[in-house]
Amino acid sequence: MTGNSPLLSVEGLTIDLPAQPGLVQDVSFEVGRGRSLALIGESGCGKTLTSMAILRLLPPGLTIAGGRIVFDGTDLLTCSPRELRAVRGGPVGVVFQEPMSSLDPTMTVGDQIAEARLLHLGERRSVALRRAEELLDRVGIPNAAQRVRSYPHELSGGMQQRVMIAAAIACDPKLVIADEPTTALDVTIQAEILGLLRDLQRDLDLAVLLVTHDLGVVADFCDDVVVMYAGHVVERASIDELFYSPGHPYSSALLASVPQSGSPRTRLAVIPGRVPPAGRFPAGCRFQPRCVHNRPEVCGRPQPDSVLAGAHRSRCGRVASGALTVEGVPRG
Ligand SMILES: Nc1ncnc2c1ncn2[C@@H]1O[C@H](COP(=O)(O)OP(=O)(O)OP(=O)(O)O)[C@@H](O)[C@H]1O
Ligand SMILES: [Mg+2]
Repeated sequence: MTGNSPLLSVEGLTIDLPAQPGLVQDVSFEVGRGRSLALIGESGCGKTLTSMAILRLLPPGLTIAGGRIVFDGTDLLTCSPRELRAVRGGPVGVVFQEPMSSLDPTMTVGDQIAEARLLHLGERRSVALRRAEELLDRVGIPNAAQRVRSYPHELSGGMQQRVMIAAAIACDPKLVIADEPTTALDVTIQAEILGLLRDLQRDLDLAVLLVTHDLGVVADFCDDVVVMYAGHVVERASIDELFYSPGHPYSSALLASVPQSGSPRTRLAVIPGRVPPAGRFPAGCRFQPRCVHNRPEVCGRPQPDSVLAGAHRSRCGRVASGALTVEGVPRG
C-alpha cells in the first residue's frame, strides 16, 4: 500500500500487566514514509514496551489490551502468526541496544545476515551470503569478504552494532525500529553509528523509529518526536515545534535538562522527583505531582490528547486551552 497513508500507525495502544492495567495507555502516533521519529522520555516511561509491541514482541506476562497497529496496510494486532513473521525482519527491521543479546554467538555474522534473505526472499545460500558481504561493506565494516566468516565475539561492540544494522536492512525494509542503538557504545562510536543510520535512512528512503534518551540525537537525526511519560504520550510534535514551542510542561522540563551549546556548562536542570512506578500512576495527568504548573482542579481529571496546530498534539489541558505557555529551548 502506498499513497498518503502513514507507513506505521499506532492508535490507542494499551499494554497491561495482570495487576497493572494501563502500564502503557492509549498511545497513538504515526511514522510517515521515509521519516524519522524519535520516541523519548525518562527511564521507565514505556518506550521499549511501545516499540516492541509493534511487532508483538512483548515479554511474557504483558499483554496488548487495546488499540490498533497498522503497518503498510497490515493490521499487526489481528494478522496471523505467519503474516507477522513475514513482517518481522522483512519490511520491518529491528536494532536492539545490546548487539550481543541479539546476535547468535554460534553462527558467523555472514550466515546471520544471509538467514533473513533465505527466510524472507527464498534466496539460495550462496547468493544470500554474497549479499551479506555487500551489506557488511555498506555498513562500513572493513574487509567485508573476510569478516563475513567472523563470529560475533571476534568483533568490537561498534562492529557488532554495524552487523545488527546490516541484518536489519538485509531485506530492504521500509521501517527500522532502533531501541537505544548506541547507548552501550562509547561516544565517538555512537556518533559513527548514528551517522550510518542517517545515511542509510536517506539513501534507502527508510523510515526510522528511534528510541533514545538523548535530545541532542533527536535534534540532529529526527523529523518528528513523540514524548512519553509514565506510559502516556504527552506530546507529538515536529522537532522544531518541540524545541521552539513545546506543548507540554514535561517536554519543557526535559529540554531544560539539556545543556545549551555556547552556554557555560553549569549544572543541568533536573526534573525533581521520579517517574512513578507502574501501578502508582496518579489519576488524570500522570506528570501532575512533578509539574510546577500543576492545578489539581484541572490536572486531576483525565487529559485528552488535544490538537495544538496541525499535527502538533498535547496531553496537557492547560496548554491546549491557552491557559499555559511553556518554554522552549532553541536548538544550537
Ligand atoms: N517484563 C516486564 N514485566 C513487568 N514490568 C515491566 C516489564 N518490562 C517493563 N516493565 C515496566 O514497564 C514500564 C515501562 O518499561 P520500558 O522498558 O518500556 O521503559 P523505557 O521507557 O524503555 O525505559 P528505559 O529508558 O530505561 O529503557 C516500567 O515501569 C517497567 O518497569
Ligand atoms: Mg527502554
